Amino acid sequence: MRFTPFPTLLSLWLCAGIISGTSHNNARLQPRRGASMLINPPAQPNLPSIDAAKAAASAVHLNLDNIQGDILIGMRKRAELFFFFHISNTVQFKSKLKSVILPLVTSTADLLDVSSQPTTAVNIAFSQTGLNILNIHDSLNDIPFSGGQFNDASNLGDLTTNWNNIVATLASLKSKLGSSISEIYSLQGAARPGNQEGHEHFGYLDGISNPAVQGFQSPLPGQAVVPTGEILVGESGDNVTRPAWAKDGSFLVFRQLKQLVPEFNKFLTDNPIRAPGLTQQQGSDLLGARMIGRWKSGAPVFLAPTVDNPALGADPNRNNDFTYGLPGQTTGNLTDQTNCPFSAHIRKTRPRADLGLPEKNNHHIVRGGIPYGPEVTPLESFFHKTQFERGLAFVSYQSNIANGFQFLQQKWADNSKFIHAGVGLDPIIGAAQGAQRAVTGLDLTNLSRPITLTTDFVVSRGGEYFFSPSLSAISNTLSA
Ligand code: HEM
Ligand SMILES: *[C@@H]1O[C@H](CO)[C@@H](O)[C@H](O)[C@H]1NC(C)=O
Ligand SMILES: *[C@@H]1O[C@H](CO)[C@@H](O)[C@H](O)[C@H]1NC(C)=O
Ligand SMILES: *[C@@H]1O[C@H](CO)[C@@H](O)[C@H](O)[C@H]1NC(C)=O
Repeated sequence: MRFTPFPTLLSLWLCAGIISGTSHNNARLQPRRGASMLINPPAQPNLPSIDAAKAAASAVHLNLDNIQGDILIGMRKRAELFFFFHISNTVQFKSKLKSVILPLVTSTADLLDVSSQPTTAVNIAFSQTGLNILNIHDSLNDIPFSGGQFNDASNLGDLTTNWNNIVATLASLKSKLGSSISEIYSLQGAARPGNQEGHEHFGYLDGISNPAVQGFQSPLPGQAVVPTGEILVGESGDNVTRPAWAKDGSFLVFRQLKQLVPEFNKFLTDNPIRAPGLTQQQGSDLLGARMIGRWKSGAPVFLAPTVDNPALGADPNRNNDFTYGLPGQTTGNLTDQTNCPFSAHIRKTRPRADLGLPEKNNHHIVRGGIPYGPEVTPLESFFHKTQFERGLAFVSYQSNIANGFQFLQQKWADNSKFIHAGVGLDPIIGAAQGAQRAVTGLDLTNLSRPITLTTDFVVSRGGEYFFSPSLSAISNTLSA
């Protein structure tokens, strides 16, 4: 990723149904009313209807016409283009923000009703430097946001040398770009083809477990319920002092996370779990599932501990309905890792009963990312080596970066002592500046046996912290 250390940035993206040629199913990409522009995998909770959402939202005074469309919908985009811009002329840009961009910005209400969906949705967010160049000097009181993600890289376990060719690339790009707004970087994401739609590049179904935001969704079994203010700034539960115009916005964390898929697959092949009754292939599949905490179908290993159960994975009423607690347990934090390692990616990032029941956790994010890059080629599989970059264009929304993304990455995923001493790092996203990482709990036959990961299968290529303002803030404050 090539943009973070630079002063004035904004990202603008299309959550688009009209990028033809990037999906297996172009018919579904045609801009026509009647078919939703969003994917709706069976395993994910449904989005509320516009009427249901408006009724629930009015009870908590959420204005769905004012909240940008991408914040609350989770991982449902077919294709998305991320554009990163430098604002080089504030006056010109402000006027274009109001006359050109604002009319295109899609609200949450617009997306919930197929008849009001645009053919291409547009959303926009600003980094601190972007706000500065718009002469917005109010502090949003979010320390990671004001510092920018590059300055936070060491806290996240990133190896910053991966970021450094940023400088040369950007300088050369910038010299070629125009005067008022110039694109400095772009990344195209797309749902994977065929039956891999909704799956990330390692092959696991993604986007199953996002929190239900009070007043937006009613929760399915096992879904966390969070106050509006845990995701939206200035709403109930966000107890930080904010400028009035920031209400109904959300902090957007963007990360370009490269995934080394052939290398990950080789690791699974080389290290099958040798549990009684499992073939070597089943042992490899089990290792991968225990690293994530879910099988490729989405079925949680906690409920399907030795083999995948695709019917469970596809059922949104059951695939998130577990706590890691003992059957019937509704209080306390009595848990073990026989069925799901403490280190598993989904357990590190949402420990459920490990923090006590009822769930005591105010570190939630709404994930809205999308895969990028091509499918693995036969040659890459054969040589177990990545040749073409692919990964996850990670996006998360939260009202507080230090409590949300940064907490999950730094305090949980990268922390070998969470949730207990000796657990090790998250084997998927845990990072130690490129150093090897030890993980326990993966080997079902010896839960204390550490497995050393010498390769990071997920490599941060950089990112930025943005603020996704409300439509009224764009109109009345940012473009004024
Ligand atoms: C390339 C990198 C990543 C991959 C391949 C990945 C993959 C997955 C998969 C397959 C799931 C299970 C599906 C689900 O429960 O919805 C999941 C869940 C989740 N991931 Fe990631 N993820 C990545 C990065 C991250 C990052 C950077 C974070 C935050 C720091 C994160 C936080 C979460 C959370 C909070 C959940 C849901 C846990 C739950 O509610 O039980 N992921 N991820
Ligand atoms: C904000 O609320 C959280 C709980 O949601 C609490 O842990 C934190 O101390 C509060 N912060 C302030 C400044 O009141
Ligand atoms: C579990 O609960 C006990 C007290 O009930 C507490 O001392 C302990 O720290 C908790 N463990 C975790 C991992 O939260
Ligand atoms: C489990 O692994 C640990 C750490 O490698 C080792 O010390 C112990 O002997 C193993 N236990 C068994 C029963 O193999």
